Amino acid sequence: MRHIMNPLDLSVEELDHLMDLATDIERHPAKYAHACDGKVLATLFYEPSSRTRLSFESAMIHLGGHVIGFADANSSSVTKGETVADTIRVVSCYSDICAMRHPKEGAPLVASLYSRVPVINAGDGGHQHPTQTITDLHTIRSMKGRLSDITIGLCGDLKFGRTVHSLIHALIRYPGVKFVLISPKELRVPDYIRDDVLEANNIPYREVEQLDDAMADLDILYMTRVQKERFFNEEEYIRMKDAYILDKKKLKLAPEDMLILHPLPRNNEIATDVDDDPRAVYFRQVQYGMYGRMALILMLLGLDGIYEG
Ligand code: NCD
Repeated sequence: MRHIMNPLDLSVEELDHLMDLATDIERHPAKYAHACDGKVLATLFYEPSSRTRLSFESAMIHLGGHVIGFADANSSSVTKGETVADTIRVVSCYSDICAMRHPKEGAPLVASLYSRVPVINAGDGGHQHPTQTITDLHTIRSMKGRLSDITIGLCGDLKFGRTVHSLIHALIRYPGVKFVLISPKELRVPDYIRDDVLEANNIPYREVEQLDDAMADLDILYMTRVQKERFFNEEEYIRMKDAYILDKKKLKLAPEDMLILHPLPRNNEIATDVDDDPRAVYFRQVQYGMYGRMALILMLLGLDGIYEG
């Protein structure tokens, strides 16, 4: 039995297999429509989410399975003082696989130690978000045709943004990937990412404060929201929240074939006048996410043999 806590829990080969499977599911949905008949996915969301939770639920439903769970810790036994360990012991009696989101870093890992079914980390605090990374990689690979030899700009809240941390971890395994880290000083990537991941692996990267200084060099621009819920101080958040706003005018500096990704939800960091630009792929990215999660569910349940590719 396998759990997925971090994108590195999947090898590059397994990720390739997942993305091929996701593409096949998108092309031939009928072939997979009953792959999970009788299976149950539990979604335990201790932190607000719409996209990720609904994406998991929709993924399971499209595979013919069922979904149980909660979208709000206040409607669960947490309010009665139950621990994550006990909750997962109970829920793994009712389900075949579980996706958990939690505001505390490491909570899904704790759950995995007590679970009888595979646990997927659906976002733990400011730490990791592996299924968003599957989504991001699948989007880039499908729309750019490759994951190697790309220059990617990560812009916004690089300190608290877990999607950024997971994506950096995953992308350093592909040759020729260069990072441009675009953030205010206060929201730079944590030291453990800069030193232990980028520096330690000799990955080319530069840190800049202005989006304009980076744009012309990018194959991918990955915009992120300033993570309000992780700030200790409201004033600090207000000072940071509109640090970057990508609008039509700014986009003139970008290459014609640059892709704009965003894990969503967005606040002001991408003006709505960008949405119609062919480079804006963040809503298509949502769709890739669902197919990626379908592929992951099949793989963790050992049902991916249905794909002969
Ligand atoms: C992200 C998250 O939850 O970390 N959203 C998502 O899963 N699509 C990004 C965010 O909340 O800003």
